[in-house]
Amino acid sequence: MKFYIATDHAGYAKKAFVKEYILSKGHEIIDLGPDSADRVDYPDYGRKCAEAVSSDKGSFGIVICGTGIGISMTANKVSGIRAALCHDAYTATMARAHNDAQILAFGERVVGEGVIESMIDAFLNTSFEGGRHTGRVNKIERS
Ligand code: RB5
Repeated sequence: MKFYIATDHAGYAKKAFVKEYILSKGHEIIDLGPDSADRVDYPDYGRKCAEAVSSDKGSFGIVICGTGIGISMTANKVSGIRAALCHDAYTATMARAHNDAQILAFGERVVGEGVIESMIDAFLNTSFEGGRHTGRVNKIERS
């Protein structure tokens, strides 16, 4: 699988950890910044990741800020993008299974490294169930 990753300054410290974990699982990850822990605005990076995923069919994204809230809100403004703010393996599993999320969002100040690994595993190993969920997911775009 191909991933794009972007953070703000409050998510920057966990970016290297996530990249290494994704690579260790045999997947590709493209870093969209930032390149330092200097203060930046999360909307700039949330949009960057969402636009990359939107224009690269079949790819996925990971966005991280302090809480995961602002950067997921921004990613969801890009047409066709479903960014899920997750807190554990269960929410990451359901984000894929029921919501067909392409972007995993979380807060660096909220979850630890064990939970981050479990959310990435869940995201990697879970497929969209389709069926009754397809119509609902399509309605997100129209609502
Ligand atoms: C930055 O301090 C913080 O506001 C940001 O990372 C994020 O949590 C916003 O939703």
